Amino acid sequence: MEIKASNTPQLEWAGDALAIGLFEDAIELTGEVAKLDEMLAGTLSELIEETEFKGKANSSTSTRIGGTTSIRKIIIVGLGKLENLKLDTLRQAAATCGRLAKKERSKTLGISLPMCQDADATAMAITEGIELALHQDNRFKSEPENLGLDIEKVELIGLAASDEAIARARQICSGVILARELVAAPANSCTPITMAETAKTLAKDFDLTLEILEKEDCEKLGMGAFLGVAQGSDLPPKFIHITYKPVVTARRKLAIVGKGLTFDSGGLNLKVSGSSIEMMKIDMGGAGTTFGTVKAIAQLKPDVEVHFISAVTENMLSGHAMHPGDFLTASNGKIIEVNNTDAEGRLTLADALVFAEKLGVDAIVDLATLTGACVVALGNDIAGLWSPNDDLAAEITTAAEKAGEKMWRMPLEEKYFEGLKAMHADLKNTGPRPGSAITAALFLKQFVKNTPWVHLDIAGPVWVDAENGYNNQGATGYGVRTLVNWVLS
Ligand code: BES
Ligand code: MN
Ligand code: ZN
Repeated sequence: MEIKASNTPQLEWAGDALAIGLFEDAIELTGEVAKLDEMLAGTLSELIEETEFKGKANSSTSTRIGGTTSIRKIIIVGLGKLENLKLDTLRQAAATCGRLAKKERSKTLGISLPMCQDADATAMAITEGIELALHQDNRFKSEPENLGLDIEKVELIGLAASDEAIARARQICSGVILARELVAAPANSCTPITMAETAKTLAKDFDLTLEILEKEDCEKLGMGAFLGVAQGSDLPPKFIHITYKPVVTARRKLAIVGKGLTFDSGGLNLKVSGSSIEMMKIDMGGAGTTFGTVKAIAQLKPDVEVHFISAVTENMLSGHAMHPGDFLTASNGKIIEVNNTDAEGRLTLADALVFAEKLGVDAIVDLATLTGACVVALGNDIAGLWSPNDDLAAEITTAAEKAGEKMWRMPLEEKYFEGLKAMHADLKNTGPRPGSAITAALFLKQFVKNTPWVHLDIAGPVWVDAENGYNNQGATGYGVRTLVNWVLS
């Protein structure tokens, strides 16, 4: 699919489908759109009236244009109220246009949406909307599924000088799509070994530094918490560290750490049925987002050094699995009582965070499908954000807003650390049920000493279920666009 900025005015555009956006309460046609309506012999106004189109956000309507006009179909998308216009409005409107055009078997799509912020930001949002809406994952279908016809060419009308912005948006989308594909792949296809292979491919394709620590290397570094989780699996653990270094002097040095459980059975504290055990391939979502961000950053080439880290393994049960109640020593010397083997993510992250801090970075962000409790608190759309550092929390929140990815800051309530106190060890890995997304964050905090740090619990937004009524289902690639914005900021 080709996406390009177009010089052609809306009225002169020729092709299969022309999509325009209208604001709520402002659907009486004026200016260019009125002229278009005239040119189409009143088809637009008729369509609006007949379908009772009101311009509400995410609404849309379309019709076939008869006769010999230069366009064959017209799509109208609602943009909501003008005062609520955000980049995400455009992203979603563009996604709707893309889906409709495809369904209606249009090979060429002209898209004319209002400007938000500036031309480049607008072009990027529209490109992301279209590209991500049209991405279809057919890797595991013996017969590829294709609802509609592939769009061959998209033109962004009125954004003539933004071809570079479009290219950047597409690089970011390639990262989002990688993250989605990693998360969507089942645990018998996405394993610690294949994750390491993906890292190798990324490093080779984009000329990045790659360090993979095997089990023995992790032992030498004293990563007892990570290895405790890994010991129940028949697959070897892989501690993956990818570095992006700019050619110029880096103005900042950052670390992104992703939870990388390619499957989480719960271990001997086996997940009961009804706890979505069959969905636990998504438990490497943090690592998926981390790798997706690698792919985007490696193409965008910012003047920032970024370390991407994931301690990848499975949480399984077997004769050599850790026992509930085992004590593990993490690489910072802390001794952890594993009172629940299903709180495994924080064990793997503990050693990954210690490793990240040793690199001497200016800030660390971790992403993890860490707790069901966070999903209970914030639902499926919103990630939880924890940080002792207000400035870094603000940086991430701003980056997320720009990306249209929702997150909400949660408290690091120190008093709740009481719940993690152990009798004979330094701390337990699991506290009481109430506030357990908070105690998970407090646990992680024990493994970051001085570096500004943000923890994102992405257990909700990593995946979209069919029953939520969304257009896109499955893995979301949540977080890649936020992290890219952050690194670039
Ligand atoms: N990977 C799960 C969290 C999870 C649950 C992610 C549902 C996505 C959807 C995590 O390892 C886990 O099992 N957490 C436990 C923690 C508990 C044992 C303290 C949980 O949330 O129940
Ligand atoms: Mn678990
Ligand atoms: Zn888990």
